[in-house]
Amino acid sequence: MTESKEKLNKNKDFEPELLVFCCNWCSYAGADLAGVSRFQYPPNIRVIRVMCSGRVDPSFVLKALKDGADGVLISGCHIGDCHYISGNEFAKKRFERMHKIIIKQLGINEKRVRLEWVSASEGKRFAEVITEFTNQIKELGPLEN
Ligand code: FES
Repeated sequence: MTESKEKLNKNKDFEPELLVFCCNWCSYAGADLAGVSRFQYPPNIRVIRVMCSGRVDPSFVLKALKDGADGVLISGCHIGDCHYISGNEFAKKRFERMHKIIIKQLGINEKRVRLEWVSASEGKRFAEVITEFTNQIKELGPLEN
């Protein structure tokens, strides 16, 4: 068996551990709606509720990756809907800077850290984002520290 086929088979059985930071007002409610509506999504996530996506310090993401998470998703209100006016715009700028640092300095694949906007009424979208993210990380395989 070639090395790439072995890796493919290994990744097929791989169940990633994903951390999802959800803002209290939109994304957490969207996650709740996904559950209440019984939209199916992979059980690979652990959700941490924060008051705003702007609250997610880059050190939280780096610590999660260092401590065993295979991927981290930050999710907040759509631009213009943040309950703290511009917290998500701040989160977006910080995310872009953090991405550059993660990619360039630590050599972590940029797909492992993601930012998504999910509103309280988008339960289906929450389930879709989680499904897509999980599949993407499964393809990448475990994050080796
Ligand atoms: Fe949701 Fe700020 S309150 S992103």
